[in-house]
Amino acid sequence: MVNIGLLGCGTVGSGVVKLLASNRDVISLRTGQGVAIKRILEKDPEKVLSLGLSEDVLCADIKDILDDDHISVVVELIGGIEPARTFILQALRKGKNVVTANKDLIAVHGQELLAAAEENKVDFFFEASVGGGIPLIYPLKHSLGANRIKEVMGIVNGTTNYILTKMSEEGLEFSRALKEAQELGYAEADPTSDVEGYDAARKIAILASIAFNSRVTFENVYVEGITRLSPLDIKYGYELGYVVKLLAIAQEIDGRVQARVHPAFIPMHHPLAAVKGVYNAVFVNGDAVGEVMFFGRGAGQMPTASAVVGDIMEICHNLSHGTTGMLGCTCFEAKEIIPIDK
Ligand code: HSE
Repeated sequence: MVNIGLLGCGTVGSGVVKLLASNRDVISLRTGQGVAIKRILEKDPEKVLSLGLSEDVLCADIKDILDDDHISVVVELIGGIEPARTFILQALRKGKNVVTANKDLIAVHGQELLAAAEENKVDFFFEASVGGGIPLIYPLKHSLGANRIKEVMGIVNGTTNYILTKMSEEGLEFSRALKEAQELGYAEADPTSDVEGYDAARKIAILASIAFNSRVTFENVYVEGITRLSPLDIKYGYELGYVVKLLAIAQEIDGRVQARVHPAFIPMHHPLAAVKGVYNAVFVNGDAVGEVMFFGRGAGQMPTASAVVGDIMEICHNLSHGTTGMLGCTCFEAKEIIPIDK
């Protein structure tokens, strides 16, 4: 049995609890063992009790999880930088494997956390930090690992894609479309991060770091969101056969890396033009494979939970084979980041 300590039982956290319960049979079959949530650190007990879990699962202090030797995996779904960063570092140093969906944290402190994981020979996975339920990080590291990646490019923010789709196809006002995206649970707690492009910038920083074995942080990414787009830009573009999409692009050019986020006009016949609503799509261009497109739900409770539980299952395999922490992070090299004038 692999025991989990869950930090945070909000939208994604409850999705993880639900998915582990509803797909218990396939998860056990595929990992060869049971996976159980042993403790949950959550301020609001109702969130845990409403999932049908016993009160004994609840804890109010991170120590209850860190000091429990039966817990081998900590799943951080609190979000934000602190206390998430401290809790993750403490868990890694205690020899616990960690899964997180926290892109804010990875995009800024990823290097520090990966180094701590490597030092303590444990796994630290974050598939859900980019693209919701779409597998991107694992394929970049493994399935496409033989390629020199030239470019990673696509739509990685569901909220802005939802807003832009509603504005161009239904003529909705920006504020109304944003409100709908918030009601559907796609937007960040503070939607500034979505509409100003910061969320997409964090995600492309993570993808660029993996794709180019480099260290690209949020600060390295040129960012322009969708707030300065006028409804007329969208309307006239649409009438001329273009849709506006918020693109995130990372390229390696002569050994140097460039990453940027900005709106772009896309011809209607381009595959990205067909990516609507909360869907995300990412093109990866590798020298051997050519172009590969990943497509799916980029936000939402269960798609994100799917990615988190996938990471937990990967750790279960590694625990069974005694290979946790074996994938290491030493494969990173310093690469020059091409600055872009803001
Ligand atoms: N606010 C994010 C989005 C959630 O809209 O894509 C998933 O990271």
